[in-house]
Amino acid sequence: MAKSREVFVCDQCGNESLQWQGLCPMCGAGDSLRRVSVAARAKPERRALAAATAEPQRLSQVAERDEPRVPTGLEELDRVLGGGLVLGSVALLGGDPGIGKSTMLLQAGDALSRVTPTLYVTGEESLRQVSLRARRLGLAGDTLQLLAETSVDTIIEHARDSGARVLVIDSIQTMFATEVESSPGSAAQVRESAAALVRFAKSTGVSVLIIGHVTKEGVIAGPRILEHMVDTVLYFESDAGSRFRLVRAVKNRFGAANEVGVFAMTEQGLKEVKNPSAIFLSQHAQPVSGSAVMVAREGSRPMLIEVQALTDDAQGLNPRRVAVGLEANRLALLLAVLHRHGGVATSGRDVFVNVVGGVRISETAADLPAVLATVSSARDEPLAGRLVCFGELGLAGEIRPVPYGEERLREAAKHGFERAIVPEANKPRRAIDGLQVIGVERLADALRSAF
Ligand code: TYD
Ligand code: MG
Repeated sequence: MAKSREVFVCDQCGNESLQWQGLCPMCGAGDSLRRVSVAARAKPERRALAAATAEPQRLSQVAERDEPRVPTGLEELDRVLGGGLVLGSVALLGGDPGIGKSTMLLQAGDALSRVTPTLYVTGEESLRQVSLRARRLGLAGDTLQLLAETSVDTIIEHARDSGARVLVIDSIQTMFATEVESSPGSAAQVRESAAALVRFAKSTGVSVLIIGHVTKEGVIAGPRILEHMVDTVLYFESDAGSRFRLVRAVKNRFGAANEVGVFAMTEQGLKEVKNPSAIFLSQHAQPVSGSAVMVAREGSRPMLIEVQALTDDAQGLNPRRVAVGLEANRLALLLAVLHRHGGVATSGRDVFVNVVGGVRISETAADLPAVLATVSSARDEPLAGRLVCFGELGLAGEIRPVPYGEERLREAAKHGFERAIVPEANKPRRAIDGLQVIGVERLADALRSAF
């Protein structure tokens, strides 16, 4: 028997302390440490580890074996998971309330249950509410097991008894583990409940899909502390009011990180968008100022995405720089380069930049489109013709190449774009039908070609 041990976990940040203290030594929150008994925790972890590391083997001798995977019935979800759900893996699906997490996992759960025993546990809705939703989604539901429960221990017992191979937890914020004193939704509870589920998954080979809510500011109050415990972390991205949903893998031990799946929310639930290339373009009858179309590479495919900018006289002393879908620091940097090497000043002016469709772009290929959209708005002059652009902007005003240039250009040509402003080094050797490619080396060249 392992001796019972007690630790204190902070409700705010999830940090673990050996002694109770008035203030959390990590985040400084007051009266936030809760007693957690970890007797139950030490044992199975040791056992699982012992089984996993029997004897050292030479790397080349480790048998190459594909992970067994189960299709989720949603090809776009399979794509983000790296080709289906890996048995024995633990995945976290995060996103704002109401974005479609329950819908997606109910649909996927129903499909999975046709292949392998699946248990869907709801801690948020009653069984009746879930069944009403399933009916609206047109799911047969004759193979999916449902359970309304919030005690993790009871859930694990049921999962064992029913022989489930896939377990869906909706949501981790409603779950509690009995050994933790604090209430469901607190960091300590979220962490311990998830830890119990991870242990269960790793010792039995059952896959666990965990839903976690994200708070309004985009910080994941509870789930963020789970990211390192699970194998796969998926996040929903969307614009308020848009029916399109992007699901992005921000971490994946069984596939490519940053892969995205695209869905549309319909009356019958989430539908896959198999060819999402141009859904994030807004349709303008006339060319408008402050808009640039870029070819982004999201996950493993190119997508045409509109970047919008608006510049306006600042109301206060501190002009605002607001970036939605781009990094705010990046925008500040781009505006400085634009001033210094492009001769366009934005001091005293508010600058808003928005990526259409609620997409978040982290690649530097968005630099040139963001700058061109800003200049277009500042001059109130639309960019010329059916134009796409992409490219990284250096601090010296140079335009740097980005990966997959030719693939991006082909995608643009496929959608009827006629001109492209791209880094000189991204210019393809052979011409692309119907597309005039302008290679630029400096920001000033790009500005000249764009207007
Ligand atoms: P839901 O999956 O409950 O969100 P989450 O679990 O992430 O909080 O999604 C709820 C929203 O989706 C709700 O506003 C209604 C909408 N919806 C549809 O448009 N069509 C549908 O078929 C379903 C089930 C929900
Ligand atoms: Mg829900």
